[in-house]
Amino acid sequence: MKKSLGAKTLVYPTPVLVVCTYDNEGNPNAMTAAWGGICCSSPPCVAISLRKATYSYSNLMLKKAFTINIPSENYVKEADYFGIASRNKEDKFAKTGLSAVKSDIVDAPYIREFPVNLECKVIQIIELGLHTQFIGEVMDAKIDETIQEKVDQPIIEQIKPLIFAPDSRNYYAVGNQIAQAFSIGNEIKGKMF
Ligand SMILES: Cc1cc2nc3c(=O)[nH]c(=O)nc-3n(C[C@H](O)[C@H](O)[C@H](O)COP(=O)(O)O)c2cc1C
Repeated sequence: MKKSLGAKTLVYPTPVLVVCTYDNEGNPNAMTAAWGGICCSSPPCVAISLRKATYSYSNLMLKKAFTINIPSENYVKEADYFGIASRNKEDKFAKTGLSAVKSDIVDAPYIREFPVNLECKVIQIIELGLHTQFIGEVMDAKIDETIQEKVDQPIIEQIKPLIFAPDSRNYYAVGNQIAQAFSIGNEIKGKMF
C-alpha cells in the first residue's frame, strides 16, 4: 500500500551546487542551489533553477554565464551560508574569505577552494513558475590537481560532495559504493525463464 502526499517534488537525493556569477559592476557572488543537475550529455549541459528574487537571477540574466562549484564536506558551513545570505545585503566572498577566480572562458567567477568547477554558458532560459530554469552548456570542467583516478579511492570519495534532503533540510555525506552501474543489472538481464 502507498499513501499519497499530494503534488510534491520528492526527489532523493539532490546535489548541493554553489552557483557563481558577476553583477553589473563585476562583483562576484555565490548562491547555493539544490534544484539542479546534469540535463544533457552532448552538448554537455547542466540545469539550475532560481527564484527571481535572488541577486544571482539578475546576474544570470545580465551575463548569461555562471559556474557550478561543488563544495566538499569541509565547506558545509560556507555552502549553507551561501544559501541563507543574499548579495542584496552582504558580500559573501568577503565574509567567507573564499577566493573568487575569474573563469578562463565564461564571464563568471569560480571558487578556488571547492574541488570541482564547471564553466557554463546559458543557452536556454525556461520560465516554470516560482523558479526559472537556466540551462548552461559546460564550456570547461576543472578539478583539483590533487584529485586523481585511483583504484582504491574513486573520485567521488576524494571530492566528498554534499547531499541535500529537501524534506528534512539536512545535509548528508556520500555513503559506500554498493555496485557497479551498467553491470550489476546483467544478473537479471541474463536470467533464464
Ligand atoms: C541547501 C539550499 C539549497 C537551495 N537551493 C536553491 C535553489 O535551487 N534555487 C533557489 O532559487 N534558491 C535556493 N536556495 C536559496 C538561495 O541560495 C538563497 O535565496 C540565497 O540567499 C540567494 O543568494 P543571492 O540573493 O545572493 O543570489 C537554497 C538554499 C539552500 C540553503
